[in-house]
Amino acid sequence: MSTNPGSDVENGHVQREVSPEQRAVEERLVANVVASFDACEDLRLKELMVSLVKHLHGFIREVRLTEREWETAIAFLTRAGHITDDVRQEFILLSDTLGASMQTININNQAYANATEATVFGPFFVADSPEIEVGGDIVFGAPGEPCWVEGTVTDTDGKPLAGARIEVWEADEDGLYDVQRDAAKRAARAHLFTREDGSYDFWGLTPTPYPIPNDGPVGQMLEAVGRSPLRASHLHFMVSHENARTLVTHIFPDGDPIGWKDTVFGVKESLIKTFERQPAQSPTPDGRAVEGTWSRVRFDIVLAPAGA
Ligand code: BEZ
Ligand code: FE
Repeated sequence: MSTNPGSDVENGHVQREVSPEQRAVEERLVANVVASFDACEDLRLKELMVSLVKHLHGFIREVRLTEREWETAIAFLTRAGHITDDVRQEFILLSDTLGASMQTININNQAYANATEATVFGPFFVADSPEIEVGGDIVFGAPGEPCWVEGTVTDTDGKPLAGARIEVWEADEDGLYDVQRDAAKRAARAHLFTREDGSYDFWGLTPTPYPIPNDGPVGQMLEAVGRSPLRASHLHFMVSHENARTLVTHIFPDGDPIGWKDTVFGVKESLIKTFERQPAQSPTPDGRAVEGTWSRVRFDIVLAPAGA
């Protein structure tokens, strides 16, 4: 069974007229299913289940779902289950491409004063990244144009946060994360700690666009609806400090060809930064010799207080 339910129901030929008797049958079923949760003692679980059922039935009734479409949806979810394992999580990809991940992040990381905004986590974080000194290099041989990244980590009053942990990770210029090449490989990722004055800097790679894993049912869905699997170019950050709310975010180069068409809807205006292109052999901030072109970007990070 394919992702596309086919054209047995041409738009406009769906039986949309509903008699009062039929409406009563459908409403009675919704009421019965809702009532089946009456005895649930966990009130939050009850709220979630009742609302889910109401919205699900609302969807089925609004689009007048056919049995063939229902089978197609079940087959899609079954394929998503089969392709999911410890490293491939098709349901998160589905949530990401439907904007559900981003909406959950929006709700749970609401704007706090001037704190830096959050965006999607993505599936390519690993907990055991190498530690580098500030001013060090996260690249470890990954291909791409060098990029000098610098900035500060402060609280919302501008006070420097010394010793904040910064995790950074990114795809290389071939559009691959290290773990996609080899599960044991660590490249274009590292962690470092801010200096006493809250500053940090490191060498990474100028971000480039790459496709999300699209060889499974989510890729088929994107193709069926004419959507690209490409993410806007980005560099991932996760920044934590004992006195602050942990921030999961990215920065996005301005002028990126994908930009707002990011397939997981992660782009936010405040996270678009200017990556200044530097000519080949021009002097670098730390005196390192770089043969070709390189870029530099500033990202000043403001963390909300813990519990905000
Ligand atoms: C990523 O940025 O690494 C990513 C985010 C969502 C889905 C796939 C990849
Ligand atoms: Fe990414």
